Amino acid sequence: MSRLRACVLGATGIAGQEFVVALQRHPFFELVRIGASQRSAKKKFLDAITDPGGKVNWFPRETLDDQTAALQVEDAAQMSVDGIDVVFTAVESDAAKLLEPRFAEKVPVISTASAFRCDEDVPVFLPAVNMDHAALIDVQRKRRGWQGFITPGPNCTTTGLAITLKPLDQAFGVDKVVMTSLQAVSGAGRSPGVAALDIIDNVIPYIAKEEEKVERETKKILGRVEGNTIVAAPIAVSCTCTRVNVLEGHTESVFVGLSRAASLGDARSAMEEFGSAFLALGLPSSPKRLITVQTDPYRPQPRLDRDAENGMTTTVGRFREEPVLGGVKYVLVSHNTRMGAARGGLLIAEYLVKQGYIERSK
Ligand SMILES: NC(=O)c1ccc[n+]([C@@H]2O[C@H](COP(=O)([O-])OP(=O)(O)OC[C@H]3O[C@@H](n4cnc5c(N)ncnc54)[C@H](OP(=O)(O)O)[C@@H]3O)[C@@H](O)[C@H]2O)c1
Repeated sequence: MSRLRACVLGATGIAGQEFVVALQRHPFFELVRIGASQRSAKKKFLDAITDPGGKVNWFPRETLDDQTAALQVEDAAQMSVDGIDVVFTAVESDAAKLLEPRFAEKVPVISTASAFRCDEDVPVFLPAVNMDHAALIDVQRKRRGWQGFITPGPNCTTTGLAITLKPLDQAFGVDKVVMTSLQAVSGAGRSPGVAALDIIDNVIPYIAKEEEKVERETKKILGRVEGNTIVAAPIAVSCTCTRVNVLEGHTESVFVGLSRAASLGDARSAMEEFGSAFLALGLPSSPKRLITVQTDPYRPQPRLDRDAENGMTTTVGRFREEPVLGGVKYVLVSHNTRMGAARGGLLIAEYLVKQGYIERSK
């Protein structure tokens, strides 16, 4: 199969750079165009991410290749969809609200932004968790008269939570969830980002709009398709989201109430075995395990576990009985810019290629 022509919008930012690097030498996609704000437009990609003092603001740990460095950045607001089969977007919600529908009229848009996550005809895919929500793609296309569609991924804090709740919900029924997050600084992006003066030697106990997003999205992702929409899962979710002095990898302390009694061993096995049918597809960005359970009581730790399986597995540890809600409790680490943003979106795109939802545009 000839590779599909991909475009990244917001390519100069933290999540956008992760898309760019993941698309270098990708078997399904070829990165042909990149867009960002007017500030970066008409510059070569490398120049656009280099500040006036000569510092290159490159975030991923992989090297930027020469061919990608030389791509000319376009003003996303002025870009056409010519010669593009799929668009990956990594821009803030306000910009996404304007840009994404314009591209979705013609081609599929895989987004990291929150702009359309609440719309009733928009699936919020999480690998292996809710692939049946793809039924909404046809509903969305028909309702909006689009050839393409928009599929955002979850907020990066929802990702680890929902992926670990799904196997528990399938096996035992989840009815209550209480979660406290310790979120990495990279989750706030570069602009405005988090100032070093505020976060070093500190914990910030509030992240604007984050708790509402996690509570709402978790229920939608774990919900079921009914007719032309998704009925949210009847789960009570309550969380506190904090920012900590960690570069990458969100840690979450999760307390789960189950509707049917489960032994710790059964709950752990449900997590370890989760997603086997999806993993068997052998998609290029897929990990070998979606959830890795650690028995060492000092794990998971962001520094030791965030990069497991290239940042695509969620590491769970401190598995214990939860006496207050009646269920289990655990700690997880999930990579916010990889599974929680660009590479998670790319894995969904790979799945949608295999299912025929993304194809060469005419
Ligand atoms: N960081 C994470 O861990 C993470 C995880 C999940 C989801 N997300 C989501 O991903 C999106 C991007 O976040 P980020 O952390 O990568 O932010 P970021 O580092 O601040 O990057 C923002 C990007 O958006 C571009 N941009 C800004 N205004 C624009 C406009 N009007 N038109 C076109 N492009 C515009 C910027 O281009 P210029 O350089 O030209 O200004 C830059 O490329 C957000 O919606 C965020 O919620 C981020």
